[in-house]
Amino acid sequence: MGNTIPEITLNDGMTVPVIGLGTYKLKGNEGVNSILSAMDLGYRLIDSAYNYENEGTVGEAVRRSSVPREELNITSKLPGRYQSYDKAITTIQESLFRANLDYYDLYLIHWPNPKQDTYVEAWQALIDAKKEGLIRSIGVCNFLPEHLMRLEKETGVKPSMNQIELHPFFNQAPQRKWHEENNIKTESWSPLARANEVLQNDMIQQIAEHHNKSLSQIILRWHYQLGAISIPKSASPARQLENISIFDFALDDTEMNMISGLTRADGRINNQDPATYEEF
Ligand SMILES: NC(=O)c1ccc[n+]([C@@H]2O[C@H](COP(=O)([O-])OP(=O)(O)OC[C@H]3O[C@@H](n4cnc5c(N)ncnc54)[C@H](OP(=O)(O)O)[C@@H]3O)[C@@H](O)[C@H]2O)c1
Repeated sequence: MGNTIPEITLNDGMTVPVIGLGTYKLKGNEGVNSILSAMDLGYRLIDSAYNYENEGTVGEAVRRSSVPREELNITSKLPGRYQSYDKAITTIQESLFRANLDYYDLYLIHWPNPKQDTYVEAWQALIDAKKEGLIRSIGVCNFLPEHLMRLEKETGVKPSMNQIELHPFFNQAPQRKWHEENNIKTESWSPLARANEVLQNDMIQQIAEHHNKSLSQIILRWHYQLGAISIPKSASPARQLENISIFDFALDDTEMNMISGLTRADGRINNQDPATYEEF
């Protein structure tokens, strides 16, 4: 059923599709319908978070879908305010109750919030929840190399993935290189830069015309060729299909470098530098 999206293997053996559905702002019945349409089209990786207040919406789509549960990869994330060990454990349980699921495929720490200095105990909670079978694969979001190194040093377990802001205006080259050297997969959030002016960029437009593709397809192909998993959010079935129809062409090195060259030091969408930004 639907289109087949290629998969990659994480460092713990779990396989995930290279494109998933972002769900920020997909809620309620409309959200369920959007997620169901994505599953019908072939999406199997669905991103959510405790703080998006849509774990129930995602769980409802899982129940209504004809796609078997074991074929789906459902993600949620631990918010900053629940990073103490005990709160993290009960929040993971609460996430499961909200979604009415027995397990999450992926559970990620949402932000390191380094000033709080509790991300290592939160990580220990994820490790223990995985041992109990509540989570299949554990990872993080927005962690800098210094935070990632501490996790492995203090617990002996490294994350399977790090979900970070990544789009042509912020290509994260040093962070991606560090992930590659340390066998951690990169997952791109806001892969289309939230449909900001990147989708009007003249140079990407020219590449798109050359390949007879849309700007979004060129950008998502760029993520794929960088080796990153991307999770574009779309409520629209037509744009959901557009976003996974990227496996029948390739960008050459010059095109890849031209897109990567759009990166600027201030290219983050909302200036959320994980060294200082905190989210609870
Ligand atoms: N870990 C974190 O800290 C973090 C932070 C931010 C986001 N995320 C996750 O990453 C996901 C994706 O990021 P995002 O939602 O911020 O931004 P995004 O996926 O880059 O962009 C979403 C926007 O692009 C539009 N869009 C999607 N496909 C399009 C297409 N083919 N052509 C034109 N417009 C298109 C969508 O509108 P329509 O819906 O109308 O199509 C929506 O307005 C989120 O939903 C969330 O799951 C994680």
